[in-house]
Amino acid sequence: MQTLPGHGEPITCSGPHYDRAKEAKEFDETKAGVKGLIDSGVTKVPRLFIHPPQNLHNLSPDTDGAATGLQVPIIDMRGYQDCRREDVVNDLCRASETWGFFQIINHGIPVNVMNGTLEAVKQFHEQPEGVKREWYSRDNAKKFRYYSNGDLFRSKAATWKDTVYFDFSSGAPDPEAVPLICREPVFEYERHIEKLKKSLSELLSEALGLDSDYLGDIGCMESKRFVSHYYPICPEPELTIGTINHSDASFLTLLLQNHHGGLQIRHQNQWIDVCPVPGAILANIGDSMQLVSNDKFKSVEHRVVARKAGPRVSVACFLVPGETQKSKPYGPIKELLDEDNPPMYRETTFTEYFGFYLSSGNGLNGESVLPHFRVSESK
Ligand code: OGA
Ligand code: NI
Repeated sequence: MQTLPGHGEPITCSGPHYDRAKEAKEFDETKAGVKGLIDSGVTKVPRLFIHPPQNLHNLSPDTDGAATGLQVPIIDMRGYQDCRREDVVNDLCRASETWGFFQIINHGIPVNVMNGTLEAVKQFHEQPEGVKREWYSRDNAKKFRYYSNGDLFRSKAATWKDTVYFDFSSGAPDPEAVPLICREPVFEYERHIEKLKKSLSELLSEALGLDSDYLGDIGCMESKRFVSHYYPICPEPELTIGTINHSDASFLTLLLQNHHGGLQIRHQNQWIDVCPVPGAILANIGDSMQLVSNDKFKSVEHRVVARKAGPRVSVACFLVPGETQKSKPYGPIKELLDEDNPPMYRETTFTEYFGFYLSSGNGLNGESVLPHFRVSESK
């Protein structure tokens, strides 16, 4: 049994008198999320959200931490279609190999579209509870849903955020399926992301030394899922976390974030703050890209700390295979293999990978699932 610091009497995240399932159910039934807790005036983090110390290692939530002096690379896409293409490809290659994360500037998505999207999802969460609760759902078949903690009934401790999910896996959802308050801004943002995705697909193909159409042709980033998190202010950020350490299962993730930081990535064995760069889109390589690139590109662990300042709003776009390619096997790209570079992974479908990702640790205890697909381990 773990005893946590910071409260007068010992608070435990497990123990004989704690009926976690009951507390989770009660919280879920409010349909008001973590935002609802804050609005109701809580000044202590409820036990449901208290994490064991090992999840909270080195949090330093309020430093905004230029402490390390390390910064996620910034990639300037200006001129990528002509004079600067080689530079952009080289920069992308280096960033994908070493950091797995990069901030993209001059990507062509207008700032007002980005801000409009962030504002629209923020407004969704800030509506009266009675309006918002109609959309609260854990039904995977819904093209839009609002919920708090997708893994609420499986995780050991809940995280300090609420989420809205937009399923663009078969193109834009029926407009009626999406709340009016965020419909147009998100649909417009998606059209811009589609263009950026095509450019990045070509540039990343070239960064892998392949024909520019390669990643497009294998359909690995055909479909999009938008997951937007709202991280309310937190009265006791040292006891909980916004998003537990994890790597993404996607091929590529494109993230929009407002000016409230809190995202940290694991680099050279330390947690580095990703300071929001106005107008930038943050991109990161996902597990599936690491797998097909045979470890050339890195899928890097990241997390979001809870903070006293906020709310932090983010919109992640996960680029994954389309409906028709979900059961297609992906393995290390043949063109990248030779005697000195044998395949590091077995082939797998995205469905299999993601199923394993959800059912095992990642997102729950932060352990990468990629090693499970390594050739040496699967023999
Ligand atoms: C994610 C994620 C970061 C954020 O949803 O996978 O890492 O800033 N989100 O919300
Ligand atoms: Ni992530």
